[in-house]
Amino acid sequence: KKDTIYLYKTALYPLQAMMDAMFSNDIDDVFVTSAYRRYDKQKQLFDGYVEKLMNKGMSYDKAYAEVLKDTALPGQSEHQTGLCIDFMTLSMDELDNTFEDTKAFKWLKDNAWKYGFVLRYPEDKVSITGYSYESWHYRFVGLEVASIMYQTGLCYEEYLEYLKVYISPDDKQVTNTERGRARKFSSLCSLYRYLYKHKYISQNPSVFVDKPKLHDKAIIR
Ligand code: DAL
Ligand code: ZN
Repeated sequence: KKDTIYLYKTALYPLQAMMDAMFSNDIDDVFVTSAYRRYDKQKQLFDGYVEKLMNKGMSYDKAYAEVLKDTALPGQSEHQTGLCIDFMTLSMDELDNTFEDTKAFKWLKDNAWKYGFVLRYPEDKVSITGYSYESWHYRFVGLEVASIMYQTGLCYEEYLEYLKVYISPDDKQVTNTERGRARKFSSLCSLYRYLYKHKYISQNPSVFVDKPKLHDKAIIR
């Protein structure tokens, strides 16, 4: 059906729990505008944006480069995993960073991690993620990873880098400083595993039954 929004099951129940929490905190104007996208949908979006800029007189190459700043190429969008959502509120006319001024955004900032979601393209990480700031775009990574990212302030790329260092401690490319950091990081991981196991860091652990494993390669873009 045209208006049905799809999400990967693992992320669906946590999203429902998160939205219920928003509604019960008087945030009743928030809704999901985009979630799972098929390859052809992403292609249609990307090509459409390029065409729009070209209609304004931009060359194809320039338009392509411009669109690539905030839209992934078909085949490279995390929306295709079914783990990402774009939020809007009723007061917004279009999907943009005015979302930052909403009660929903302010709430998500401190609470999304509790449901396993993270802000995927933060304002201060543009050079690392490769995408413009998107205050509206959240990705499900599971409670454990989300809580580590929240506490450490790492974005997803940085988190994956740390995992690599942690996973290959004998790698000659890895410096002692990095190894030291990784050791600290891995003890942080154990701490969060402990907190999770003993339910200190989840208000509603039952929704996280399908949480991805820390080293689950499937979560890597
Ligand atoms: N806007 C994000 C980067 C996407 O197209 O997946
Ligand atoms: Zn998005």
